[in-house]
Amino acid sequence: MTTAEVIDLVALGDDFTRDPYPVYAKLRESGPVHRVRIPEGAEAWLVVGYDAGRAALTDPRLSKQWKNASPSFPISSPAAGPHMLNSDPPDHGRLRRMVVREFTTRRIEQLGPRVQEITNELLDAMLALSEGRADLVDALSFPLPISVICELLGVPTLDRAAFRDWTNTVLSDPDPAARMTAVRQTAAYLTDLLERKRSEPGQDLMSDLIRTTDEDGDRLSTDELLGTAWLLLVAGHETTVNLISNGVLALLTHPDQLAALRADMTLMSNAVEEMLRYDGPVETPTFRFTTEPVEIGGTVIPGDGQLVLVALADANHDAGRFPDPDRFDIRRAAGGHVAFGHGIHYCLGAPLARLEARIAIGALLTRFPDLALDAHPAALTWRQGLLIRGPQRLPVRWGASR
Ligand code: HEM
Repeated sequence: MTTAEVIDLVALGDDFTRDPYPVYAKLRESGPVHRVRIPEGAEAWLVVGYDAGRAALTDPRLSKQWKNASPSFPISSPAAGPHMLNSDPPDHGRLRRMVVREFTTRRIEQLGPRVQEITNELLDAMLALSEGRADLVDALSFPLPISVICELLGVPTLDRAAFRDWTNTVLSDPDPAARMTAVRQTAAYLTDLLERKRSEPGQDLMSDLIRTTDEDGDRLSTDELLGTAWLLLVAGHETTVNLISNGVLALLTHPDQLAALRADMTLMSNAVEEMLRYDGPVETPTFRFTTEPVEIGGTVIPGDGQLVLVALADANHDAGRFPDPDRFDIRRAAGGHVAFGHGIHYCLGAPLARLEARIAIGALLTRFPDLALDAHPAALTWRQGLLIRGPQRLPVRWGASR
């Protein structure tokens, strides 16, 4: 494969969706940047490898603003409004500061007992299933993060089933019309929710953000408030779901690592870092567009709004950075992975995602000592698209007599 040809990632079929790592590794052998066609139908420049990936993530010539996309770019922005992840400096800093200020470490740490409580309730419900089998996505991976982010934002009444369908469509459906309908549905729903919050504010993040808007109207516009609420709700659950699912799947398919963790649960923090590195939830993060020509590994990407995608999944499997990268090893030094990105857009929710994963997976292993996969790993169906990586369902079983 050379950089001259356009590689149609869709033509690689389900094998690529299930296991993209060998394809990326093969591309990396011939250079750090490649022309690809993505499931949404557009052409993109795909950056592979650790060093090139990190450099691209901090390159100011790669803009996150859709207005910088080439006029012929065929895809519309999926966002409900402006937010930090689709902004560049200086707006990015302003929008991020507004949330960082409200999204304090103290607030996240205080959530620990509540995360544990929600986890316990979900696992109680799972244990009560007499058949001793469940879909872990439905039973734990999805409901935990959505409950936590809803409580944090103060939207306990969110219609979770509808929201899950819409955001799944927005992030993973290759059909542009379906995506835009879902964007409109989420935007209308959130506008209504924000109106209700405005008339009945509480002690929560969304009310704080609304108050800040009302007092300093020039700092967070109504559109930005909508965009930010949308970003937090989507980023707050679509990703962590797959950290829990992919992490549990990695453990269940590596019995030696599962046994090592069960024997010494103090390894959990490092195990979660390895889960993020080995099979993280974000395969390639959201779009970047060139505002100037960018040279990567001898290839010059034109500066006219070309789409650039960074394969985080491949950066985390680069043997130059992580020895024996395809081995899942909960004791390895997994730090330095880019599963949460790198640079100014580094994930704001990383502490929350880590907290949820540690608590959820720890409690699951403790309460289900004989948990096993209830499907052949090759039979699992995976989320479509290049953004989010995770199984749609994760069937598990356990001894029912407890
Ligand atoms: C395991 C779970 C998660 C993963 C793997 C993840 C991954 C990422 C990545 C890769 C980025 C950077 C995207 C880019 O550079 O284009 C990002 C940004 C972001 N994430 Fe996460 N995320 C996770 C959980 C969360 C949670 C729980 C929240 C919120 C509650 C969150 C909120 C955000 C926000 C607000 C940004 C934008 C930051 C900025 O633009 O400055 N994420 N995340």
